[in-house]
Amino acid sequence: MTHRHNFIIAIDGFSSCGKSTVAKALAKKLKFVFIDSGAMYRAVTLYFMREQIDLENGEAVANALENIHIDFIPNSDKTEIHLNDEDISDEIRQMYISDKVSEVSTIKAVRTAMVAQQQKLGKRRNIVMDGRDIGTTVFPDADLKIFMTADPQVRAARRYLELLSKGEQVTMEEIIKNLAHRDHIDSTREESPLRKAEDAIVLDNSHMTQEDQLTFVIDEYTKRRASK
Ligand code: DC
Repeated sequence: MTHRHNFIIAIDGFSSCGKSTVAKALAKKLKFVFIDSGAMYRAVTLYFMREQIDLENGEAVANALENIHIDFIPNSDKTEIHLNDEDISDEIRQMYISDKVSEVSTIKAVRTAMVAQQQKLGKRRNIVMDGRDIGTTVFPDADLKIFMTADPQVRAARRYLELLSKGEQVTMEEIIKNLAHRDHIDSTREESPLRKAEDAIVLDNSHMTQEDQLTFVIDEYTKRRASK
């Protein structure tokens, strides 16, 4: 047990497993702050692409990171993510960012900067944070750790419907390729690769409704809360 007074819930797992859907619903129910750590890596990717930063150039990367300010701004029903005061919530969901974000996330300086910001965000507040390394690196002492997985076909179908509903023209083949590519990079990179923390609880949601998933996580939360 930790001596922190705030409660930290870490949700990790592969891309398009429904992590943020569960995390958002959970945060709403518990009145916790939800932080989408993937959105931060997406914001950095957007900045690097706009500024045409050479990813191999350590100095250019370090300078660029100095100029990146990311904020989460709560708005009536959703939280906006701002990059240097610009709302980039929709832009960072586009496929051209998804195609590049895993590569940007392998850069050590990028991870160090993001992890420091994430730890700051979880200092005193009750939070639900989703990502790849939250339970292993960002908050190894999180009060509850969930590791989410789902069948690759189910994940691709979900992502397809999500992008389609936003009017993006993509094929299932492109999505399957992007997911496989990201899974590979995310789980084999040198810096804090995606892996299940030893004390994380596995949630395979291939055949679960969103309601079932929320019930599952709330049950785990209730048990942990009682013993904190
Ligand atoms: O959760 P997402 O798909 O929006 O994340 C985008 C990318 O960011 C993902 O491919 C890997 C990276 N990421 C990471 O390396 N560490 C995190 N904690 C969250 C995301």
